[in-house]
Amino acid sequence: MHHFRFDQDELYCEKVPLRRLADQVGTPCYVYSHATLNHHFRVFDEAFSNVPHLTCFAMKANSNLAILNLFGSLGGGVDIVSGGELYRARKAGIPADRIVYSGVGKTIQEIDYALKENILMFNIESDLELEAINQRAGELGTRARIALRVNPDVDPKTHPYISTGLKKNKFGIDIEGALRSYARAMELEHVEVLGVDCHIGSQLTDISPFVDALKRLRILIERLEAMGIPVKYLDLGGGLGIVYDQESPPHPHEYADAILRELEGLSCTLIFEPGRVIVGNAGILLTRVLYTKKSASKDFVIVDAGMNDLLRPSLYGSYHQILPVVKSDREIQVVDVVGPICESGDFLARERGLPMVLPGDCLAVMSAGAYGFTMSSNYNSRPRSSEVLVKDDHYFVVRKRETQEDLVRGEWIPTL
Ligand SMILES: Cc1ncc(COP(=O)(O)O)c(C=O)c1O
Repeated sequence: MHHFRFDQDELYCEKVPLRRLADQVGTPCYVYSHATLNHHFRVFDEAFSNVPHLTCFAMKANSNLAILNLFGSLGGGVDIVSGGELYRARKAGIPADRIVYSGVGKTIQEIDYALKENILMFNIESDLELEAINQRAGELGTRARIALRVNPDVDPKTHPYISTGLKKNKFGIDIEGALRSYARAMELEHVEVLGVDCHIGSQLTDISPFVDALKRLRILIERLEAMGIPVKYLDLGGGLGIVYDQESPPHPHEYADAILRELEGLSCTLIFEPGRVIVGNAGILLTRVLYTKKSASKDFVIVDAGMNDLLRPSLYGSYHQILPVVKSDREIQVVDVVGPICESGDFLARERGLPMVLPGDCLAVMSAGAYGFTMSSNYNSRPRSSEVLVKDDHYFVVRKRETQEDLVRGEWIPTL
């Protein structure tokens, strides 16, 4: 359920017409619906309301301060993967005891920062990271609370670039290895073992890989408890898919039912790290048509948003629905919607049927709230777009468009 709808012929975000936003804020521009963000967070969180749990939004999906602040006000925490994300989370007012820290390559500086902030838990991904965190915690006169990220070797049946729970992926520690690592962690003076963590991939549209992973984790937890290692927290990561096109992912309630069934009798606090399912369909990318062009074999619609603004189509071949923000009865044409970047891989849609568009028309690239702005870059020296949060009939620019000055900030020409 989201709040991007046509009223008569105009596409609205809540009660604000997107055409007005394009005129007043400019394009390209990310637009988020407050009501949708609020609804999606609550639906996910409430699906687990019968058990002790913490919903730690995976802020790599969308790290705008206004959005993090909203989830924090709803009782949520965040899953971070860098010192920069920790900084943003704290700026957004997320309490440190609601922050978990994942990622295979935490630097010493990042570890120190997280230790000083006293975050809830490090999700450790290798033996050497365990030793490093223990060493840094000792140095800083503290104890790090930790879980080990276990790689359960299950196939999430998603795009290979966003599959993380297979042996061949760089993430986590395999189950046998994890038993040895837990034994080692128990010997270390400056870490406190709190739990088990796992994240198998993103955009999962089937529940069975989650259940398979959980069955394996359960066996591991029983073995750990037999070794006298208590598991206070079980972090099940994120990964629930959304509808971009024709997918039919499980509803958060189905996901919760399947998980809770599998966990019956276990008394740990659950942590979840949902990203896409909360924000994906709560945001769109608004863009304007610059030119149309016919070549011998194709028709192109050239828009002012490119792969630097929304990388997913170029990186994964992802589908995003594209809607004109004002409906027309012009004839349907099959076109490639492409950006201004000097790469043939710069496209938002290929071979797409769209009502004929003209320069100046605005298009909404749907389902762009997750891994949209956060993956954007300055490639081709393009300032990054603005971000707007719509609430009812109001809108707030929650990130202003970068300027050309911003593009060169921090650079200098040395005297050689
Ligand atoms: C460790 C971890 N947790 C959570 C997520 C969020 O995944 P999703 O956006 O599919 O929910 C990711 C995404 O890659 C991740 O790497």
